[in-house]
Amino acid sequence: MLSEFIMKERILTGIKPTGIPHIGNYFGAIKPAIDMSKNENYDCLYFIADYHALNIIKNKEDFEKYTYIIAATWLACGLDPNKVIFYKQSDLPEVFELNWILSNVTAKGLLNRAHAYKACVEKNLETGNDPDYGINMGLYNYPVLMAADILLMNSNKVPVGQDQKQHLEIARDIAIAFNNIYGKCFVLPQDLISETLGTLPGLDGRKMSKSYGNTITLFDDENTLKKQINRIVTDSKMPGEPKDTNCTLFQIYSLFASDEQKAEMKEKFENGIGWGEAKKQTFELINSYISPMREKYNYYMSNTQLIDQILQDGAKKARAIASDTLERVRKLIGKK
Ligand code: ADP
Ligand code: TRP
Repeated sequence: MLSEFIMKERILTGIKPTGIPHIGNYFGAIKPAIDMSKNENYDCLYFIADYHALNIIKNKEDFEKYTYIIAATWLACGLDPNKVIFYKQSDLPEVFELNWILSNVTAKGLLNRAHAYKACVEKNLETGNDPDYGINMGLYNYPVLMAADILLMNSNKVPVGQDQKQHLEIARDIAIAFNNIYGKCFVLPQDLISETLGTLPGLDGRKMSKSYGNTITLFDDENTLKKQINRIVTDSKMPGEPKDTNCTLFQIYSLFASDEQKAEMKEKFENGIGWGEAKKQTFELINSYISPMREKYNYYMSNTQLIDQILQDGAKKARAIASDTLERVRKLIGKK
């Protein structure tokens, strides 16, 4: 059949295990990636970028804990390991060999311009410190390791948040540099940035982010969820006064609601529902959405040997692709 000869597009993305996932991560990254994995036109590879996290996580308990948390989150949110190649970056030694080879075709100037590094230098200059104060080579080389993740697996499309756009540009620049020096080897990857959600605001109205402590965490217990929802900042309108739907609470409610539920809540806002009542109904909606996933999450977190098994199986499949690419790379550079 002709369709068998049509190459599927390869989709790859990674998440750093650096904290507790929240509903911004879910709607901005995890859910879209899982939806894509259900499309027969794509081959999906999703991984835990654990060695990228070394830059932030400096103790072994947290390193192990957050790796399991991110893995259990993907699985609880519906990732099917039979459909997706699901693995841990550090289980692929090929990534780190390619990382070194790529470093040698990467202009230092390219990395000098990377946003995360530049932001640290600028902060140092503002505070009167040495420009390189507190900056390690892990931060500086971060984009090369990310390029190795992507290029090794011949990825066509990489779903990421807006903040990762520059890293994809750097990965393409590195691929072009290698292809120019040694001959065509790497596919040029494209970023895939979700336009629908944009950036979800957090409890205080700023971007929801682990770094601001303003998140609604995905799988904490019901009480914590209730408390987090109660902290969503609203105006001081009294019950009975019409409320504006252009607010964080309504935006968060809408993410979990059907069109019908959204229309009903909009009407309640116009009719002056009290903030307390609106929050209570938001809690009930989110909790009923999350409960079955939370159960799965808790199951995986108390059976981490299952996670180990799934990731080991995934690493085997990923290494089959990785060793193929690395073989070609070694030939091109002249390694015997
Ligand atoms: P955080 O800012 O909480 O540290 P990360 O940088 O680890 O989150 O992001 C992991 C993924 O989740 C990225 O693809 C990112 O774009 C997405 N993401 C994070 N916060 C949000 C948000 N508030 N709204 C939408 N997507 C988000
Ligand atoms: N840098 C990404 C982030 O902070 C994580 C990541 C590492 C990644 N390697 C990747 C994302 C490869 C996509 C592809 O969110």
